[in-house]
Amino acid sequence: MFSKHVLPLLWLPLTASQAPRVNMNWHAPKKTWINDLSQVIDGNGTHGFIFNGSGLPPGTPYGSYNWCNMPHVRAEEYPVANNEYELEYVEVIHRHHKRTPYASNTFPKESYPWSCSDQGLFYYGQPLSPGGNTSTETYWSVFTSDINPFAAAGFNGTCQFPQITKEGLDDSWQHGKDLYGVYHDLLRFLPNELGNKVTFRVTNNVITSQVAGMLISGMYQPSETVPLRVQPTTIDSLEPAYSCASSSTLFGSYGVGSTSPPWTSHLKAASSLFQSLDSVSGISPNATDWHKSFDHYFDNLSARQCHAKPLPCKINDSANCISQKQADAVYRLGEYEYSFIYRDSPLSLQASTASFGVWISELAQNLRDSISGKSQVIYRHNVAHDGSVSRLLSILQVDVMVWVGMGSEVVFELYSAKGHDDKKYVRILWGGKVLRSSNPSLGEVDMLDVDVLLAYFDGLVGKKASRVVGLCQSY
Ligand SMILES: *[C@@H]1O[C@H](CO)[C@@H](O)[C@H](O)[C@H]1NC(C)=O
Ligand SMILES: *[C@@H]1O[C@H](CO)[C@@H](O)[C@H](O)[C@H]1NC(C)=O
Ligand SMILES: *[C@@H]1O[C@H](CO)[C@@H](O)[C@H](O)[C@H]1NC(C)=O
Ligand SMILES: *[C@@H]1O[C@H](CO)[C@@H](O)[C@H](O)[C@H]1NC(C)=O
Ligand SMILES: *[C@@H]1O[C@H](CO)[C@@H](O)[C@H](O)[C@H]1NC(C)=O
Ligand SMILES: *[C@@H]1O[C@H](CO)[C@@H](O)[C@H](O)[C@H]1NC(C)=O
Ligand SMILES: *[C@@H]1O[C@H](CO)[C@@H](O)[C@H](O)[C@H]1NC(C)=O
Repeated sequence: MFSKHVLPLLWLPLTASQAPRVNMNWHAPKKTWINDLSQVIDGNGTHGFIFNGSGLPPGTPYGSYNWCNMPHVRAEEYPVANNEYELEYVEVIHRHHKRTPYASNTFPKESYPWSCSDQGLFYYGQPLSPGGNTSTETYWSVFTSDINPFAAAGFNGTCQFPQITKEGLDDSWQHGKDLYGVYHDLLRFLPNELGNKVTFRVTNNVITSQVAGMLISGMYQPSETVPLRVQPTTIDSLEPAYSCASSSTLFGSYGVGSTSPPWTSHLKAASSLFQSLDSVSGISPNATDWHKSFDHYFDNLSARQCHAKPLPCKINDSANCISQKQADAVYRLGEYEYSFIYRDSPLSLQASTASFGVWISELAQNLRDSISGKSQVIYRHNVAHDGSVSRLLSILQVDVMVWVGMGSEVVFELYSAKGHDDKKYVRILWGGKVLRSSNPSLGEVDMLDVDVLLAYFDGLVGKKASRVVGLCQSY
């Protein structure tokens, strides 16, 4: 039997001229503690959200929010579609796995070192033509010298800030293994060998390549080399890195950098928290980047806790440390900010659409090429950033927005209904579960008529991204 929400559409094949009517408006997300400032400021703990390791504490079900290693599709929990449907195409996008902090998010001086000597970052150019000279497998070994007067900022140690940590590499491998467990072992959808039906894409930030290498190994353990598709730095749609002035201006008008309420309200409400954090970290209260949002403190504290490192203490004052209570408040505020920037503000849809619209259009084209049979690729995999996945969830108008943690995953599955080749359906999985959108035309995206999703994407960005350049120039 077909599920009931599919039935009315099944017998009405649409032609291109009959594009379905789709609601193109922004719709507010659900009210939860995350977008309730009083619960964020005066609250307590992290409402079951985990921030202290890749694994879950005993008794916590898989699927729970874990900043250090977000839930993804796994065979154990995978909601297998009704057998009237046949899987035709899969596109995965996820944030890279856990890493050291970015250098910009480290304190002027850190009270302990951070070592990455348990891994190498392999970097070399290898001629691809057979029979020629070959490269040695060289890797980066990070060091500082006593001579370099600039070496002391941030953590002492042997890491690039950022790089995927050893544990983050293991999480990446497991992520690949879990996806393979579903799309190969369980559904018999992926081919046994890597060929031209499966492709991987990364951004220009090397940490996504660090993840991809491990992930592919977790899937296929290939003995051959594997290309990672990547667009030129200045126009990369996945990162996203193409220039989009209107989007930056729009985000800045209400979000990070805005000097008016509501943005400033939560910063003001948290001013005593900022003061205590600054007194331990040594960050100047005048350091704008650290005080225009909670991004830096959030990254700084969560990266430590994800790797079981202690919360920081003041230099030369080991009794004066950031407390778990303060860290939890930073985490609640970070969640609040992401919800506000990407969902609660009515301007969020427009800002995200302009800056991530090219990737959205590429996705739409991939779906179309699969439907028309033009492309033989059945599985595309994108390793990206929080800025990519947040914008995507913003565009999909997810009903509860969070700061997308390490490994955060969205999967698009395209199905046909057996015996009705002319109709295709799409299911979207967010963190391994069916995504629920606040937009009534999308709703619970579970075997949605693909023409509805395509009409929504086209309505926002135009077919083949035709509106995006214009959107980036003006709003
Ligand atoms: C915070 O949580 C703890 C433990 O759950 C509880 O004892 C305490 O009363 C809570 N404090 C506030 C202000 O809610
Ligand atoms: C991580 O935090 C949870 C609660 O948020 C706690 O139950 C658990 O014991 C912590 N684990 C570690 C290793 O600190
Ligand atoms: C946190 O910030 C401090 C101060 O800038 C810096 O030294 C440290 O490396 C940061 N740590 C993380 C994990 O970002
Ligand atoms: C290796 O490079 C050298 C220098 O260009 C060249 O002379 C030589 O033919 C190359 N060897 C092979 C096997 O291509
Ligand atoms: C960094 O660590 C090395 C080795 O432990 C030590 O010799 C050096 O003094 C440290 N540098 C700083 C700035 O802490
Ligand atoms: C912050 O800026 C104010 C005004 O420019 C200045 O008076 C003060 O000394 C600065 N504070 C720090 C800690 O740099
Ligand atoms: C910490 O103590 C050492 C040794 O007494 C001193 O050289 C250094 O300047 C102090 N650092 C700070 C930030 O106070």
